[in-house]
Amino acid sequence: MSAVLDRLFTRWYPLLMSISERAGQADVRTAQLSRAVGRTLEVGAGSGLSLAHYGDDVTELVLVEPDADFRRSLRRTVDSCTGRAWPVTVVDADVHRLPFDDASFDTVTASFTFCSVGDPDVGIEELHRVLRPGGRFLFHEHVRGHGLRARVQDLVAPVQAALAGGCRPNRDFAARLRDSRFRVDELVPGRMPRALPTVSPVVHGTASRR
Ligand SMILES: C[S@@+](CC[C@H](N)C(=O)[O-])C[C@H]1O[C@@H](n2cnc3c(N)ncnc32)[C@H](O)[C@@H]1O
Repeated sequence: MSAVLDRLFTRWYPLLMSISERAGQADVRTAQLSRAVGRTLEVGAGSGLSLAHYGDDVTELVLVEPDADFRRSLRRTVDSCTGRAWPVTVVDADVHRLPFDDASFDTVTASFTFCSVGDPDVGIEELHRVLRPGGRFLFHEHVRGHGLRARVQDLVAPVQAALAGGCRPNRDFAARLRDSRFRVDELVPGRMPRALPTVSPVVHGTASRR
């Protein structure tokens, strides 16, 4: 049953997200990802909604995606997104154990990925390991809200996780990042336009490896 629900998620997620993207979320992706420089790693790339938002300062993009269905649509997005000066590789890997050398990327990115990662602390530590000293982590995540919203997020978390590829809407990603070895340089709060109430608020920003 969970395999069927996971497969369905890979179909409905890009369609639902496209509503928020058109309503302004795409501008946040541009603000986040246009700062990527050099050899860049994106984890949990999904169907590739972020791909069009990288700028010309990227020299190579490596897209990690562990789900086979998402990887298929990701490859289609990569093939249809022409005109880039830099190469793109799609890799089947897991953020808990990245198959990359220490300090081998100039930039690492994640968008709406850490809600679904089994152990976010391990994933954040892996990103820190593969990033070079001085390199930047560009993040964009939906996070735990406050008051009534947080209580609703707690209540629906098991159902949302089952229906939405393991997404836990009540995670405090910003706190996990602050507790990690990254230095948080910028954290911009916001709301996801035209989205389910459980996937707001959102944060985007930058953290760096000291
Ligand atoms: C909600 S989707 C977001 C997709 C895409 N980043 C976007 O912005 O639309 C969550 C993504 O995280 C990926 N993911 C979940 N657990 C992961 C893990 N352990 N390692 C890497 N990616 C993971 C999922 O396969 C999925 O692609």
